[in-house]
Amino acid sequence: MSNDPIIKADRISISYNQKNIIRDASFSVARNTFNVILGPNGSGKSTLFKVLLGLKKIDSGQIKLFGDDPKKGNKLIGYIPQSRDLEGINLRVSDFILLGYDGIKFGFRLSRSKSNHILKKVLNMVDGQYLMTKNINQLSGGELQKVYLAQSLVGSPDLLLLDEPLSNLDIKRENELLNLIAGLVQKNNLTVILITHDLNPIYDIVDKIIYIANKKLASGTKDQVLNSKILSELYDSKVEVIKDNQSHKLIIGIEDSGEHHV
Ligand SMILES: Nc1ncnc2c1ncn2[C@@H]1O[C@H](COP(=O)(O)OP(=O)(O)OP(=O)(O)O)[C@@H](O)[C@H]1O
Ligand SMILES: [Mg+2]
Repeated sequence: MSNDPIIKADRISISYNQKNIIRDASFSVARNTFNVILGPNGSGKSTLFKVLLGLKKIDSGQIKLFGDDPKKGNKLIGYIPQSRDLEGINLRVSDFILLGYDGIKFGFRLSRSKSNHILKKVLNMVDGQYLMTKNINQLSGGELQKVYLAQSLVGSPDLLLLDEPLSNLDIKRENELLNLIAGLVQKNNLTVILITHDLNPIYDIVDKIIYIANKKLASGTKDQVLNSKILSELYDSKVEVIKDNQSHKLIIGIEDSGEHHV
């Protein structure tokens, strides 16, 4: 059983107010893999996470997670949303991280020793022990992403949904965070789905791609998805994929819309 995909979507369609966002999409996600979702702004990447989190219903088709329908408060999932408003939030990192746990438990408070145990564990997993006593307002962008990652780990999830955790990070912090996330897949047997607009920093690490554009979805290995044929079908337009083997940079050029980097 453990080789079954942890997510299986079969011809799903998603819309808001009768406006179709994704149509007839099928894909699966295998356990213990690093997956990335790519696609232009507004293509439905975050919406797909909402479906997996049980926050948005599909119109048709079938989607199963761990063999079940998506449901709210699923403890098997850790989630970092695309953006958060921290203004006016004056919390220590430790308290902020534990919100993730207390949230799951609907306000149930943990004993001090259990809290400390969880905090140490998750901060260790993100190499962020030194952040424990800081205030959430004092953190740099990179440190904040580490704290978000730690918070998403408090319920010991099997699957992490990370919505653009790399945006606003410089290359050094981006690589640091990516290595941490890749380590969670390798050492902690987690499955990761990460949304990003820039594939290049992650190209060598990632196992599978889910590409959404124009209401369509393609998924598979890098070679299966990131080629002119598949991307031209997605964009309904001629797409050139140029790979620079030396720098590992991938440039995707779309006719009509100018150059587009992923
Ligand atoms: N609650 C909502 N009600 C109505 N339309 C919505 C809602 N949420 C998102 N949309 C629309 O659905 C489409 C997909 O949105 P989504 O946030 O999933 O895109 P995305 O791929 O994550 O984009 P980005 O890269 O900008 O984050 C967009 O056109 C958006 O305006
Ligand atoms: Mg989004």
